[in-house]
Amino acid sequence: MEIPVDKPILVTSALPYVNGECHIGHLRTYVPADLYVRMLRKMCYNVRFICGSDTHGTPIVLSAEAQGITPKAVVKRYHEHFRQVFKALNVDFDYYGQTDSESNHRRTEEIVKKLIENGYVYKKITKQAYCNTCGRFLPDRYVEGKCPYCGAIARGDECDQSCGKHLEPGEIIEPKCKICGNDAVFKDQEQFFFLLSAFAEFLASYLDTLGGTLNARNYAREWVKKELRDWCITRNLDWGVKFPGRDDLVVYVWVDAPIGYISFTEELLKGNEDISWDRYWKDDAAVIVHFIGTDIIYHHCIFWPAMLKGAGYSLPDAVVASGMVKINGETFSKSRGNVVWTTEFLKRFHPDTLRYYIISQSSHTKELDFSWNSFAMRVNNELVGVLGNLVHRVLTFAHKNFAMVPEGDIEEEIFVAISKRRDEAIRAVEEYEFKKFVDAVMSLADFGNRAFHRQEPWHLIKKGEEGKARCGTVIKDVLQLLKAVCILLEPVMPEKMQEMWHLIGMESDVHSVKLDELLVPIESGQALVKPKKLFRRIEL
Ligand code: MSP
Ligand code: ZN
Repeated sequence: MEIPVDKPILVTSALPYVNGECHIGHLRTYVPADLYVRMLRKMCYNVRFICGSDTHGTPIVLSAEAQGITPKAVVKRYHEHFRQVFKALNVDFDYYGQTDSESNHRRTEEIVKKLIENGYVYKKITKQAYCNTCGRFLPDRYVEGKCPYCGAIARGDECDQSCGKHLEPGEIIEPKCKICGNDAVFKDQEQFFFLLSAFAEFLASYLDTLGGTLNARNYAREWVKKELRDWCITRNLDWGVKFPGRDDLVVYVWVDAPIGYISFTEELLKGNEDISWDRYWKDDAAVIVHFIGTDIIYHHCIFWPAMLKGAGYSLPDAVVASGMVKINGETFSKSRGNVVWTTEFLKRFHPDTLRYYIISQSSHTKELDFSWNSFAMRVNNELVGVLGNLVHRVLTFAHKNFAMVPEGDIEEEIFVAISKRRDEAIRAVEEYEFKKFVDAVMSLADFGNRAFHRQEPWHLIKKGEEGKARCGTVIKDVLQLLKAVCILLEPVMPEKMQEMWHLIGMESDVHSVKLDELLVPIESGQALVKPKKLFRRIEL
């Protein structure tokens, strides 16, 4: 999606559930979003990047019960954990909130009341699983039973192991209590429903204008064509945002979680005199882009826009959905131990190598099959083999023979090569093709490698004054290419590119350098230090 330059942009990343640690599957939502934001900033857009912890829902309550602590304590622990992981990975949000904030409670109440007022919420008696042994109602994940569609063992809210269908409360067959393992019974219970079915026509035309990746749109269109069933938006829980006027019910977590996007914008812009949150969420004056994973397309492309529409808010302009991360061909599973934890990863490897891998291993909308072997190959062949080697060889030579950026004019063909890759990179980012983005920039490094070898500066340097001058211009050309690679790879590897920026004699902060610097000739006379290696080989 090409974005008008005068519009402010709001980029969001899906809010992680803070009921457990961050694994590398999560990163496919956060790392590409961070790249996107960094690149848009280099293109001089006005961007705000927000996220926060999703603090509600039954998994958090279950995890608290299992540990014998309060949901608040669980939230506090993993909220801090996710903040630290994002910091370590340089996923640099302008604001990181949490959905249990006062403003999110207030905003959720306001929106739910608006939906009620506008006639989109109705009351209905439903069958709810109830455990006689525990003496309580059992919301979604407290229940296990058989899927009414395919017969497989399923969770109360989703056939999570087999057909993947979303299950409404009361649908599951032969329910069992997950707390004590006994059979549960169905009891009548009053719940509230959102009239999603009323939005079919609206959604069909909205999806035609929605930007972002095709997988998101197509998947959502299928649902709209098939059926839109009304959503039960209340749960019998204490932990959550109270349903207006009902102390015994909270709203379903998928109501207050996306509303977090609005509240966090509010929290971020509180006291800002130039722009207020409602320019983003009420006046349609901004571009809203959501980064998510495939598993939550339904919530972002159907449920969320219907809710916004029903309550009179602005609609998202783009939904960018990544493919899922698998491990050696299998789905992530914490219970089966098939998972790679981010903090474990970062104990052994530099965060930028992980960022690079996530971005370059597969096209954004495709699955990414993680293996240690493919990780080592990418790092060894590309980061060490191509980029690291080029930087090391060129800078060692330049340092030894010139000790600074040599004199000379830069060849026109260098600027042509840079412009070409810049345009490819911009196009790739606009199409959410982040792998193509990296590939375009790495091919510039490759071009640098070839330019260096073809002109054999090590021979030129031995050919008197004239040879040395000629050698100097070759080196300067290659340094210009390195400068460009560094600017363009900063959104992928912010720390390593800052290091490289200093190695080529630049003193500024590469994070804030804009794309127009690509064609500014590197200054002769900047001191070059003896280079150290940027990347280390990974031994399997
Ligand atoms: N809390 C919800 C999102 C609410 S947004 C209003 C949620 N949380 S999550 O912790 O389960 O996931 C956070 C992000 O990580 C989501 O975008 C999700 O798609 C992504 N991923 C989690 N596991 C993943 C993989 N194995 N592979 C790719 N992305 C995955 O969903
Ligand atoms: Zn029980």
